[in-house]
Amino acid sequence: MSETAVNKPFIDVLAGQRQSVPPIWMMRQAGRYLPEYREVRAKAGGFLDLCFNPELAAEVTLQPIRRFGFDAAIIFSDILVIPHALGRSVRFEVGEGPRLDPLDTPDKIATLSGQADLSKLEAVFEALRRVRGELPPSTALIGFCGAPWTVATYMVAGQGTPDQAPARLLAYRHPQAFSKIIDALVDSSIAYLLKQLDAGADALQIFDTWAGVLSPREFARWSVAPTKRIVEGVRKARPDAKIIGFPRGAGALLPGFVAETGIDAVSIDWTAEPGLVRERVQSKVAVQGNLDPLALITGGAALDQAVDDVLASYSSGRHIFNLGHGILPETPIAHVEQMLARVRAFKG
Ligand code: CP3
Repeated sequence: MSETAVNKPFIDVLAGQRQSVPPIWMMRQAGRYLPEYREVRAKAGGFLDLCFNPELAAEVTLQPIRRFGFDAAIIFSDILVIPHALGRSVRFEVGEGPRLDPLDTPDKIATLSGQADLSKLEAVFEALRRVRGELPPSTALIGFCGAPWTVATYMVAGQGTPDQAPARLLAYRHPQAFSKIIDALVDSSIAYLLKQLDAGADALQIFDTWAGVLSPREFARWSVAPTKRIVEGVRKARPDAKIIGFPRGAGALLPGFVAETGIDAVSIDWTAEPGLVRERVQSKVAVQGNLDPLALITGGAALDQAVDDVLASYSSGRHIFNLGHGILPETPIAHVEQMLARVRAFKG
């Protein structure tokens, strides 16, 4: 029997079929809240050494699937591998997050390459092939990239900041120079996502973690338009590609984002308004989300209530259960099990 004969509930939702029990996975599901991840992480050396070791990257991708039986695995990597492949210096300092050489003047931007050297990311494609070979046939495999805006915020500032002011200022002051960064990221992301599909990814997610700091005009220019170009570029080569957008914090701008970009599903954070999402978003695409990661840390009755609220809000339509953002390292594993049991017991 061919593998495609077994259905993947996660893919079925993306393809238009609501499931009575929503498929479930968690953003950042391979991570520090798992002791088995911390063990592999300790022997890998640096964080990027782990991303670029196909055997270990495949192993940590599979860990949450083995432990929890999620409906989808997401390849273990990071959005900042694209700046690395563009020749920028990318480091992860322990306890501090990413550090890059700031790309914060038009002169520096003029030296930026227009297309990433994807041979530097061969390890990611090899990890995808390995995971594909080991996943249960009903489990989907997700490839991903950062949205150009979010990746650019780290490239410009050289690190994360509370409101990504350095990139916002550069985009206002020097929109043409800033466009050059966005264009390089659009072209590189299309090529990178296509290679992930070739290596066995069933679906793709585009993380725009910092979309919510933009004014509506800047959101249209730097979040919506580049995402649309990526979706079109990927679909030109792979018309059936399933693509999820995650414009975190987009709020009332979500319906426009969905209509313009042509994505198949949108991942929403926990601040989304259910009525607006149901009427103007879920009527068009599948919705993924949106449990508050802090409710997952809390556990107990507060977690049950929060899980029930998500199910009550979105289970009448096409829904993939997820968190509103990544799981936090201090989350107890028992709370993940509690959430999973409650979602799987749901009779919708
Ligand atoms: O979801 C998954 O399990 C797949 C792996 C994944 C990672 N990063 C691994 C990671 C994914 C999808 C990402 C995406 C990512 N990376 C985003 C977008 C989504 C989001 O969470 O907002 C962003 C903004 C980044 C950039 C990044 N990487 C930051 C700001 C940090 C430091 C913060 C932190 O949590 O430590 C990282 C490091 C990182 N990426 C870790 C993991 C598991 C932690 C590093 C470690 O294990 O030491």
